[in-house]
Amino acid sequence: MSESAKLSFKGQDYEFPVITGTENESAIDIAKLRASSGLITLDPGYKNTGATTSAITFLDGEEGILRYRGYRIEDLAEKSTFLEVSYLLIYGELPSQAEYENFSKEITHHTLVHEDIKKILEGFPSNAHPMGVLSSMICALTAFYPESLNPNRSEEEVNLSIIRLIAKMPTFATWAYKNEMGHPVNYPDNSLDYCSNFLKMMFALPAEKFDVDPVVASALDKLLILHADHEQNCSTSTVRIVGSSQASIYASISAGINALWGPLHGGANQSVIEMLEAIKADGGDAKKYLDKAKDKNDPFRLMGFGHRVYKNFDPRAKIIKKAADDVLEKLGVNDPILDIAKELEQAALSDQYFIDRQLYPNVDFYSGIIYRALGIPTDMFTVMFALGRLPGWIAQWKEMRENGEPIGRPRQIYTGANERDYVSMNRR
Ligand code: CMC
Repeated sequence: MSESAKLSFKGQDYEFPVITGTENESAIDIAKLRASSGLITLDPGYKNTGATTSAITFLDGEEGILRYRGYRIEDLAEKSTFLEVSYLLIYGELPSQAEYENFSKEITHHTLVHEDIKKILEGFPSNAHPMGVLSSMICALTAFYPESLNPNRSEEEVNLSIIRLIAKMPTFATWAYKNEMGHPVNYPDNSLDYCSNFLKMMFALPAEKFDVDPVVASALDKLLILHADHEQNCSTSTVRIVGSSQASIYASISAGINALWGPLHGGANQSVIEMLEAIKADGGDAKKYLDKAKDKNDPFRLMGFGHRVYKNFDPRAKIIKKAADDVLEKLGVNDPILDIAKELEQAALSDQYFIDRQLYPNVDFYSGIIYRALGIPTDMFTVMFALGRLPGWIAQWKEMRENGEPIGRPRQIYTGANERDYVSMNRR
């Protein structure tokens, strides 16, 4: 027998069905709540609100579990590649050899972007943050492919937009960086794999020969896999809600990039390094910053710590911490900031404030240290996150569309002034 939940209000009982997912998570289905009782629910920050059912990513914050389409993140990070994971997230299954080759070939074929995009890029001042530049260029794709504005276009056309996004994202990301540096942009090299092509476009200069370091390319591939999806977080919910109005996929992804930018979300990886650098410049006293984070009169937070969902540990942080050690050793980099990060982590993990609030290092705590070792500048860290998260956003957008989800439109409880008459200016 299916379960239900009861609500009593003003002497009347209401019954709502309880739905259960494949991992036994349960939710009260309140779709008929307002129609039957006149009530709505209020849940700032959506801490208890499921916005959708989804078959893409499962995470259990209490147990520290993360799986894409049922596959453990630990296995994918060790054995798969970013493009294979992208295929898995978007199409639901691991690809066969032929499917993988076709997918990679299609992506490689579409890496080039329209020359006129360069004119848009040239309009940005060199101090423009690369996240703003990236989201603008992705949104500009609506102008170059206006057919994407048609909500009723064929599956084939939708798929072409998906391929274009994955193919062009490294080109846009590296061009945003080149704009900042005042260097000429590089064109894609389709003889290279996804990450090597990104690295070459990012770092090659016309005056010098550039060889991609396979250690760097493989570390980057792993980082992208770890960031590829994370169910209904702030940027993904943004992508789904913008897409639910039937806006173009390019506009939806561009909105997701903007949501990711903030320091409480993807922007945290930049803030972590800035925080660690500040601690180093201030004499390396981790304890002092821990105290600042605990002080309710101080707005300072320990960046890279805490998570809305993970209350035990973030499994991605575990993999990244180990990867940071490996990468730094392989590249022969000795970064004093890694020692400060480890000291800070140890101090926080044994501090009652952090224990009581179940605050653990999140994915962003160590990712910046690897990015630094790979030569990626600090303000490009969130762009790297966006590059990794792209297949997740696409998969979630596609699922929202295929589910035929209604337009996202939360309600509110109004707390403003009651009805009053307009007062002309000379009487105010
Ligand atoms: N440093 C100090 N105190 C913290 C921190 C922190 N990093 N995070 C949470 N707290 C405290 C917070 O002050 C509150 O204390 P109290 O109960 O005494 O008022 C308690 O812990 C609960 O915090 P919250 O803000 O209600 O929790 P939330 O679920 O709304 O916020 C968070 C989650 C990730 C925004 C928050 O932990 C945070 O600001 N962390 C730092 C930023 C960060 O690293 N963000 C990256 C998240 S992972 C990457 C991604 O997916 O975006």
